[in-house]
Amino acid sequence: MRKLIAGNWKMNGLISSQAEIEALRGLTGEATCDIVVCPPFTLIDRAVERAKDSNLVIGAQDCHAQQSGAHTGDVSAEMLADIGARYVILGHSERRVSYGEDDEIVHAKAVAAHRAGLIAIVCVGETRHERDEGRAIEVVGEQLAESIPEGATGANLIIAYEPVWAIGTGLVPTNKQIEEVHAAIRHMLEEWLGDDGHSVKILYGGSVKASNAAAIFGLRNVDGALVGGASLKASEFAGIISAAF
Ligand code: PGA
Repeated sequence: MRKLIAGNWKMNGLISSQAEIEALRGLTGEATCDIVVCPPFTLIDRAVERAKDSNLVIGAQDCHAQQSGAHTGDVSAEMLADIGARYVILGHSERRVSYGEDDEIVHAKAVAAHRAGLIAIVCVGETRHERDEGRAIEVVGEQLAESIPEGATGANLIIAYEPVWAIGTGLVPTNKQIEEVHAAIRHMLEEWLGDDGHSVKILYGGSVKASNAAAIFGLRNVDGALVGGASLKASEFAGIISAAF
């Protein structure tokens, strides 16, 4: 499966950061993987303009479940599609923690993403405590079961396995731990989605950098990465992109 590398800029980036988009745009010509960048809402429009006529694709980091209405501060999936975003990250652990987003909300947002024609990148992952209790696969399975919407296919859904304890910490699970969870996710997807379960990409996320990307990409059922900190500088992100084959 062709790998996909997605950068999650989180709450980083000003107009001046467009230089990074420009640099990334240059990289996509030769890349053998799909490259997505998810800047903050304020930069999506400009990033889409910058990425025009290239293989660089722009996404968002969240959307509201409703199409429009009295939801101060929120942005709908339709609004994102309207300005040219093609992907949306949903259920990131930072949103689960900061805004109490549960699987039901993530499910509703995924339905909204599909309604608007966006590809949903649904994030799942266990906390340190849950892993220590031996419940990583159980937790991830529950999150998936409750958040994947009807009609999900390999064309409109991506799963990102992001152990909470690995995000922004420099800690990465062992190869065996990553393979175990990814195999379990693949198995569940196949059970629920049939043939489509084979083609849903499963990304790994959590402290991916240029120095560990090749090893992670070599693992079974790892179809790419969701990258936070290391996606902010095009030069570092380039190292990850070139590790994908
Ligand atoms: P990190 O973040 O690469 O900085 O660990 C990953 C993420 O939160 O998606």
